[in-house]
This record gives sequence, C-alpha cells and structure tokens, in this order.
Amino acid sequence: MLLEGKSGLVLNVTNKNSIGWAIADLANRHGATVGVGGQNERMLEGVRKLVEGRERFKTHQVDFQDDLEIDQLAEQVAAEYGKIDFLVHSAAFANRDDLAGRFIDTSREGFKLALEVSAYSLVRVCRALEPVLADDASVLTLSYLGSVRAVGNYNVMGVAKAALESSVRYLAVDLGVRGIRVNTLSPGPINTVAARGVKGLAEMIETVHQRAPLKRRFGQEEVAGAAVYLISDLGRGVTGQVIYVDSGYNILGF
Ligand SMILES: NC(=O)c1ccc[n+]([C@@H]2O[C@H](COP(=O)([O-])OP(=O)(O)OC[C@H]3O[C@@H](n4cnc5c(N)ncnc54)[C@H](O)[C@@H]3O)[C@@H](O)[C@H]2O)c1
Repeated sequence: MLLEGKSGLVLNVTNKNSIGWAIADLANRHGATVGVGGQNERMLEGVRKLVEGRERFKTHQVDFQDDLEIDQLAEQVAAEYGKIDFLVHSAAFANRDDLAGRFIDTSREGFKLALEVSAYSLVRVCRALEPVLADDASVLTLSYLGSVRAVGNYNVMGVAKAALESSVRYLAVDLGVRGIRVNTLSPGPINTVAARGVKGLAEMIETVHQRAPLKRRFGQEEVAGAAVYLISDLGRGVTGQVIYVDSGYNILGF
C-alpha cells in the first residue's frame, strides 16, 4: 500500500483500456482516493460504470479546451478533497488526417489543436490546480518516443509531445519550490482509442515487442506500476524526468 491516505486526480479516461484507467485502478488498490475524469457527458458515463461499486473513487467532467470547466474542476477539488497529492494528466488529441502521411502537410489549425490539447493543457491544468496541490504533491503526464525521434505517421503529435516534455521541465522548476514534482512517463505503443488514431498502430506494436531488449510484452499495467512509483513517496527525489516504459525499445540503435 504505497498511497494510503493520499488522494489525486487522473484526467482523463475513455474506457477500461485507457492508460489513465490502469493508473487510477492501481493507485486506488494502493489505498488512494482517486477522482477519474471524463472529457464529456458520454465519456463521464463510461467512467461512472468503471468505478461503480468501488470504494474511494470520484468522477469529474473536464474538457481541456474549456477554461471554465478547468476552473470549475479546481473549485470542486477544493470543496471535495481540500488538497490533492497527485495529478495525472493522461490526454492527447490530433486530427486523424494529421496522424498519417507527410508531417509537412500539417495544417495551421491541426498544429494548433494538437499542441493546445496535448501540451498546453498540462500547463493550464497545473495553474488552475496549483492552489489545491499539497506541498510535495506529484504531477505526472504521458509522452511518447515520437517527441525525440521521427516516428512514421506520429507527425504533429511528436511535436506536441516535445512541447509537453519541455513544459514538464519548466513546471518542475516553478512548482519545485513547494516540493511538488513533475514528471512524464513515455510508454511504448499500446492499443487504446487514442493510439488507434495513428496509422499503422498494429504493425508498430508488433515491431516494438519483437525488437525491444526485454522479450516480454508491456502494456497498461507496466505503465501503471511506474506511475504509482512516481506519485508515491518512493519517487520523492525525481522531478523533471522522462521515464520510458517500453521494454527498453528506446535505447536501441540499428
Ligand atoms: N497508447 C499508447 O500507445 C500511448 C503511448 C505513449 C503515450 N500515450 C499517451 O497516453 C495518454 C493517454 O492515452 P491512451 O493511449 O490511454 O488513450 P485514451 O484514448 O484511452 O485516452 C486519451 C484521453 O484523452 C482525452 N482527451 C482528448 N481530448 C481531450 C480534451 N480536449 N480534453 C480533455 N481530455 C481529452 C480523451 O477523453 C481520452 O480519455 C495520452 O497522452 C497518449 O498520448 C499513449
């Protein structure tokens, strides 16, 4: 039980395959009270079903493109939790057209949308929730190798993840004065709704699993394990980092 007596948010979850759900579930099993987010009414309905009958779960609705909803979430957290010990940002979006073919064809609107939802949202949510983050709280987000390598079809999302990872470092400095840590996990490809937006996902997953140093498969559970370490006190000396959860695939050259 690494999170006994702690509480936090996981934003957002679509279904049982969401990486966010694996993190929320494991954090809860480690004793935490977890507020799970859904982007809209329909998704919130799905989240409610996931937590039905389970103790120490709450649900919230928040769309990261809506400043009012983000500020309302902060008010809800203040009223319902007082302070929170962790915040997991697990959300990204780009137009499907921008996740296939040539990066050079990315439209101005598509670029703005991907960067706004997938990178700026972390900054905006951290600012809104700063007053309700406990001293020594832990903030965690999710990135991908496409931030530092050109990965076919990942395109504008790679650029958004680069902005996200850089934002993590700046946020780690701003919030570090209160002992608050900010990190990102970088999982290898996992079959989820968001990942299926990237053309050729199935082939990507197979190739990574065949080539990675660890010859066993990774998935949501492995990511959740690393997340619980980072949001628990075990991770208290770690901030501003990108930690890969990909069976070691990222270290390979040819
Ligand atoms: N699945 C993978 O292969 C993989 C690999 C590395 C990183 N990631 C990252 O993990 C995170 C979670 O994705 P997932 O793979 O679990 O997929 P998912 O589809 O289950 O989760 C993505 C979530 O983003 C949310 N979202 C999208 N637009 C939003 C908005 N405007 N406001 C609020 N929420 C919004 C969706 O509601 C959804 O719950 C993402 O940041 C993704 O880029 C995924």
